[in-house]
Amino acid sequence: MIYLDNSATSLPYDEVLDTYQKTAIRHFGNPSSLHDYGSVAEQLLRKARQSIANILDINTGELTFTSGGTEGNNLAIKGAAYARRGRGNHIITSAVEHPSVLETCRYLETHGFEVTYLPVDREGRVSLENVKEAIRESTILVSIMHVNHETGAIQPVEKIGEWLKSQEKIRFHVDHVQGATKVPLELKNSGIDLCTFSAHKIHGLKGTGLVYIRNGVRVEPLFHGGGQEQNVRSGTENLPGIVAFAKALRLSFERYQDAKDSLEKNKELLIQACRDREGMVVNTPDEISAPHIVNVSVLGARPEIVIQALTKKNIHVSSKSACASRLQTASEVLAAQFGHEERAETGLRFSFSHETKEADIRQLLSALDEIVPEIRRVNEVNV
Ligand SMILES: Cc1ncc(COP(=O)(O)O)c(C=O)c1O
Repeated sequence: MIYLDNSATSLPYDEVLDTYQKTAIRHFGNPSSLHDYGSVAEQLLRKARQSIANILDINTGELTFTSGGTEGNNLAIKGAAYARRGRGNHIITSAVEHPSVLETCRYLETHGFEVTYLPVDREGRVSLENVKEAIRESTILVSIMHVNHETGAIQPVEKIGEWLKSQEKIRFHVDHVQGATKVPLELKNSGIDLCTFSAHKIHGLKGTGLVYIRNGVRVEPLFHGGGQEQNVRSGTENLPGIVAFAKALRLSFERYQDAKDSLEKNKELLIQACRDREGMVVNTPDEISAPHIVNVSVLGARPEIVIQALTKKNIHVSSKSACASRLQTASEVLAAQFGHEERAETGLRFSFSHETKEADIRQLLSALDEIVPEIRRVNEVNV
């Protein structure tokens, strides 16, 4: 089996599963309980929080555990928007964000907020100039992702953060779900106020994630209840998931660092090979893009048909983000980048893990050489 859909979700490490199971059995207590089971669980939670804070070089009080990236983006954006409502109602984001950001912003538009969706250039990037131009007196929040989930394009969030440091009124949120452990991002002194992570994209478990909330930054909670997570996210903590997340984060940082060269080589190999093939266009920018994502449009071939044909050969890829991939519409990301041309409707996303091998890429290319001409021929007959 060749799995090239790691941006949708990744295989949990054995060590992560082992940690989850041991914690779930041995330390099943509720961290809020006063008896021994509770206090042991609470100590373990504290240890996991400390370990994640050390890895990310932040304070333990700056971490809020969530159920994943979608909740994290909702919490950061709605939470910051509602907390700053008295100061303004304008939000800036980009047209290429994940649906968990775009739909959250669209929802807020129905609740009195105004949103600017910044355009991107043909490499899929927003510019600091565009951010500056979009700022209004009423701007309270900027939300820009780090690594794009479809193309791997890296946004200039460091530059934007640096400039936003001078804009005291404005909070800056970064969706780091695709970049975490693959593309470095400093949080401390970065101008970033809020940052979202998800465990299942880094070989942790589904249902766990976290939001970095910089000291002093206030967000309105989405969930009300027992006041866990410093009153920001009520609900009994998913202790085994959190402990497993700490393990996944540490191992992923190590393993993706070790695999840096092979990831880059495989990416280059796939990009060059696609460029050499007629009717294939590469949507991932050559420069300033993540090492694990390659997006290619196969003109004249519907992506869902290519995906099915590859699946029959036991090669697993996707077109857009997993949650949008059942919709047979153009990719919003590619449409923002290139306009509503065929290119935006025929994109395929290949996303690697640190274990992806050159042989996997070569097998993918031979499979594409076999199936694409046939799909195009059938397509032409049916037109
Ligand atoms: C960039 C980005 N943000 C947020 C999410 C949502 O994360 P989760 O699946 O953990 O809800 C995803 C998932 O694909 C993503 O790619």
